[in-house]
Parts: sequence; C-alpha cells; structure tokens
Amino acid sequence: MTGAQLEGRTAVVAGGGGGIGSAVVRLFAQHGATVHALGRNRQALAAAVPPEFLDSRHVVPHTVDVTDEEVVHECLAGIHDTTDIHVLVSVVGVNVPNRRLGDLTTRDWDAILRSNLDSCFYLIHAALPALRRTSGTGIFIGSASAYWPNGSGAAYQAAKLGLLGLTRAASYDEHTRGVRFTTISPGLVDTPHLARRATPPSATARAASLRPEDVAGACLYIASLPATVHVPEMVMLPTALQAPGKTEIPDAPSRPTSPSS
Ligand SMILES: NC(=O)c1ccc[n+]([C@@H]2O[C@H](COP(=O)([O-])OP(=O)(O)OC[C@H]3O[C@@H](n4cnc5c(N)ncnc54)[C@H](OP(=O)(O)O)[C@@H]3O)[C@@H](O)[C@H]2O)c1
Repeated sequence: MTGAQLEGRTAVVAGGGGGIGSAVVRLFAQHGATVHALGRNRQALAAAVPPEFLDSRHVVPHTVDVTDEEVVHECLAGIHDTTDIHVLVSVVGVNVPNRRLGDLTTRDWDAILRSNLDSCFYLIHAALPALRRTSGTGIFIGSASAYWPNGSGAAYQAAKLGLLGLTRAASYDEHTRGVRFTTISPGLVDTPHLARRATPPSATARAASLRPEDVAGACLYIASLPATVHVPEMVMLPTALQAPGKTEIPDAPSRPTSPSS
C-alpha cells in the first residue's frame, strides 16, 4: 500500500472521536485525505488526531449530534459549499447496559434506533448531492451481530440489520449514478465501547479481539476501490475468538446464564 491512496480526496467521518472512528480519521489523513470529523464532543475529536494533522488541509472537527437531522444537513451542506465530498463514513454507534429483551425500555429502543440507524439515513440524505457529483462512496460500520445474534441485544441488532437494509436499498437506487454504499460489520473490536457492556469482555478476550486499526484498514480498502468495483458488505471477525454463526464471546457471556440472572 502506498501512503497516498486518498490524496486529493475529501472524507466526512461521523463518530470520528471514538475508538474505531479516530483510527479511520488518522488513517485517512495519513493517506492524503482531508477529513471532516463529526462528533458531539469536540475535545474527543481533537484528542483523536495527531496535532500535526489538526489543520484545515488534514482534519477539520465539527461538533455535531448526528441524531439531529437539521444539524446534519447544515453541516454537510456547509462542507459541500467549500469542497467536493468523495467518501462518507459513519462509525456512530451506541448501546445500553440493560439490553436484555425483558429489561429494554422503549426510551432505550428509540435512542438506539435513532443513533445507530436514523442518523445513517440523515447522513446519506445530506451527503447524496455531493456523493452523486463525485460518484462517491458511503461506508457504514454495522456489526456481525446483524448476521448472527449475540448478546448485544434486540435494539442494537435491529438497528444494525436495518443498516444493511438501508445501504442495500441506497446502492440499488444510486448505483447507476456511480454512488456505492458499503456496510462493514465487525465482531469484537477493542475500544472504549466494550467497557459500557453490563459484563465487559475479559482482558484475554480483548487481547484476542480486532484492533480499531483493522476496521480502519477495511474502510481505507473500500474507499480506495476503483470506481467500477462495489463491495456492498464485509464481515470481519477476530480469528481466535469468533466464527461465522458463533459471535458470542466465550469467556464473558453477556446473556443470562440462568433464568434468574
Ligand atoms: N467495539 C466493538 O466491539 C464493536 C463491534 C461491532 C461493531 N461496532 C460498531 O462500531 C462503531 C464504533 O464503535 P466503537 O467501538 O469505536 O465505539 P465508540 O468508541 O463508543 O465510538 C462511537 C462514536 O460514536 C459517536 N457518537 C455516538 N452518538 C453520537 C451522536 N448522536 N452524534 C455524533 N456522534 C455520536 C461517539 O462520539 P461522542 O460520544 O463524542 O459524540 C463516538 O465517537 C459503532 O457503530 C459500533 O456499534 C463496535
């Protein structure tokens, strides 16, 4: 791989201050892209970026709550006023500790669907004029739990499965204009996201999990494909820990082990 696959390209990365998101921002900037990083926490966005990249040629932070449709449209339109947008990435995702079906509240269901799925629609809609102009690419981070249920809970899995539906339909509608959408669905990735589980995975499981840089590398691969190639979906699992159909973490069960638990 050269260090300049995205030279001259502009990317928007929503969730750019998180574990996987900051790895995507860094890798894209290292490969020559100008990256507009979106997140609710400006400090997290700034902390995610090596200081030498915090300038308008490399990484530009934007304080945005992507569940606010109007704000998303304003932000994307503002970026598009000044530059083309070649790649849109959303790494935004949340879950709640009380995710078991019997514990899940309607409020949590709504919040998870809004953050993990509705926001992706807002981003796609807001970026579409720009992506059509560049025959650009949308990349969304889903979850392997959309393919094989695990302990991540009904709301999270419904949202991630909905994301597959959204990106499939978006590609169906837009491919003749050269616009492609890809969902990358990882298994366990060692990020701060894991500490928010009711039962966080053990140190052993975390050590065997995917790195944020692995997922960022997959994003770079998709973003660098020739315009004639479309990869709609990619599932990536940590070899020693998970396999197709077997995405539960063996030493840290997050589903009840007895009817009373
Ligand atoms: N870690 C895993 O094992 C794993 C496995 C499979 C899939 N995933 C998926 O991978 C993605 C990234 O996860 P991660 O592990 O890197 O988690 P993370 O560190 O918690 O990152 C999530 C990011 O989403 C941002 N975010 C959340 N709500 C937002 C909102 N309303 N507006 C703007 N930004 C928002 C957060 O930023 P602020 O809170 O600062 O706004 C944060 O930067 C998620 O979609 C997750 O579902 C993770």
